[in-house]
Amino acid sequence: MNREEWALPVGTALDRFISKHQEQFPYATGELSQLLRDIALAGKIVNREINRAGLINITGTFGAQNVQGEEQQKLDVIANVRFIRALRNGGEVCGIISEEEEDLIDTEKYEGKYVVAIDPLDGSSNIDVNVSIGTIFSIYRRLSPTGTPVQMQDVMQEGFKQVAAGYLLYSSSTMLVYTTGHGVNGFTYEPSLGEFILSHADMKMPENASIYSVNEGNYRDFPKEVKEYLEHCKDKRYSGRYIGSLVADFHRNLLKGGIYLYPPTEKAPKGKLRLLYEGNALAFIAEQAGGAATDGENRILNIVPEKLHQRTPLYIGSKSMVDTCSQFLNTKKLTEV
Ligand code: AHG
Ligand code: MN
Ligand code: MN
Repeated sequence: MNREEWALPVGTALDRFISKHQEQFPYATGELSQLLRDIALAGKIVNREINRAGLINITGTFGAQNVQGEEQQKLDVIANVRFIRALRNGGEVCGIISEEEEDLIDTEKYEGKYVVAIDPLDGSSNIDVNVSIGTIFSIYRRLSPTGTPVQMQDVMQEGFKQVAAGYLLYSSSTMLVYTTGHGVNGFTYEPSLGEFILSHADMKMPENASIYSVNEGNYRDFPKEVKEYLEHCKDKRYSGRYIGSLVADFHRNLLKGGIYLYPPTEKAPKGKLRLLYEGNALAFIAEQAGGAATDGENRILNIVPEKLHQRTPLYIGSKSMVDTCSQFLNTKKLTEV
C-alpha cells in the first residue's frame, strides 16, 4: 500500500485516524490501536496537570532521585504514575520500562502482546520555567509467549523492531506525533473538544537545513571530531537553537530541518540520552520522516541493547546533515586505517 492510500485529510480526529488505519490491516485485532488510544488519554491527563502546574504547587523537586541519580521533579513522578496506570489498565501491555523506574515493570496483564518503553516527562529542567516539555514512547511486540509474565528479552530489542513510537509535546500547542512504520503524522490537541486532530499529515524532515542544536556549554569536553563538526556549522553560518528538551528540539528540527547532537563527554562517555526510551523512538520517527540517527558509528536502530537504562551518544535529524556529521566523526578512524 502506498503513502497516498494511507493519507487522511487534515482535521481528522485521532480516534477516527487510528480506526481507519486499522481497517487497512485485514488481520489487525485492534490491540495496538487501543494502546495508542491509552497513550493519548494519559497524554491529555498529563497535559492538564502541566497546564495547572504553576497554580497547584506541583512544580519543583519531589525530594528523591531516580535510578540515574537525577533529581526527580514532582511532574516527573506524576507523569510516570499516569502513564503506567493508563498502560496497566488498558491491558494491552505486559511490561513497561520507564526512566523513573529501576526495574522492568510486570503489569500482570499476561495476555498483553506489547511492551512499552517510556520517558514520561522529557525536559524536566524546563518544567519550572514554563518551557516546552514532552513524553517519549516506544512500543514493541513481546517475544515471550502471551499468557506468561513479561521477560527481559521483550524489552531488550533493537530499535528497528519497534511497531510504533511517538512523543507528546506540551508547548504553545500540545501535540501527539507518532509512527507505526507508515510515515509520521502529527495531531494537535484541541482543548475545548478534548480531541487530538490531524494537523501535520505525512510529516517529512527537510533533507538539508541550517540549524544545529547542542549544549555548547559542554564544548571543552567534546571529542575533537565533534568540535570540528561544530566549527563546520559555524563556518556555514548555521543557526544555533537549543531548548534543552529533546522532544522540543527534535520537533523543531522535524518541521524546519536541522541536526541535534548529544555527544559523549569525558564525564559521560556514552553521552546522556537513553537508548530505549529516548534514542530509539526518535530515531524511528526521524527515519520515517526521511531523516537519520546515529551514535557516531552505528545506526541507532541497529544497536543491540545491553542494559535497561543504557545511554547512547545521539546525532539525529536531517539526513544530509547527519551524513556530514558522521563523516567528521569518522575521519579519525579512516585516517588511522
Ligand atoms: P529528562 O528530563 O527526561 O531527564 O531528559 C533531559 C534530556 C533531554 O531532554 C535534553 O535534551 C537533555 O537532557 C538536556 O541535557 P543538558 O542539560 O545536559 O543539555
Ligand atoms: Mn528525557
Ligand atoms: Mn524524563
